[in-house]
Amino acid sequence: MNNPRNLMVGNWKMNGSLAANASLLADILAGLAQVHCRTALCVPSVYLSQLQTLLAGTAIELGAQDVSAHESGAYTGEVSADMLRDFSVRYCVVGHSERRQFHAESDGVVAIKVQRALAAGITPIVCVGETLAERQAGLTEAVVRRQMAAVIHANGHCISEIVVAYEPVWAIGTGLTATPEQAQQVHAVLRAQLQAATAQAERVSILYGGSMNADNAAQLLAQPDVDGGLVGGAALNAHEFLSMLKAASR
Ligand code: 13P
Repeated sequence: MNNPRNLMVGNWKMNGSLAANASLLADILAGLAQVHCRTALCVPSVYLSQLQTLLAGTAIELGAQDVSAHESGAYTGEVSADMLRDFSVRYCVVGHSERRQFHAESDGVVAIKVQRALAAGITPIVCVGETLAERQAGLTEAVVRRQMAAVIHANGHCISEIVVAYEPVWAIGTGLTATPEQAQQVHAVLRAQLQAATAQAERVSILYGGSMNADNAAQLLAQPDVDGGLVGGAALNAHEFLSMLKAASR
């Protein structure tokens, strides 16, 4: 029987083209019969319409990679939560470290984006994680707790409706992965923080992200508080992504 918290999410980041997306998705869908975990793909906004069509009637759900902190109006280039909803978007990555780092997203902005997603009926996948310098300074727990606290504070009892992703910044796209023990340690901290905030904390999936691949997925997913993965590079290869989905089908 599946753990209801199991969830595997591919984050395509700024990759793909109309042709490449169709081909990658066809290969993933061809192998989906042996997959028994919830699966979603978070794609660039301009491809939401394409993926909405291609995913219709399949077991894979659609996700976006960001959402505006504003509801509507003069915010050139932004995409609102209601607009995402128009394309049947079920999940939205919020507060990815690449947005925190390259777009100066603060904990406060991330917390508001989570509110916007929830108000539109979209499940935010809230990313938290420490840099290498923060880990080396012994600040890992303090950093993820601070990032999580801002989201909890702004979202009250709705907090049980989010998905959390622990993504150590030093492990993203580097080939360095947190050991299963390092991941479990932080996931347990996050679980406890959620438990203190809501009686429904058991509903919250906590995903690991950061160089997760077909070789290390099973060990990471075997940890009691690692409910799934947020996968970047390895989600762009159908064979590799499928083998991770199978590892999560427990
Ligand atoms: P990689 O799997 O490429 O390290 O990326 C992880 C990530 O940032 C997913 O959101």
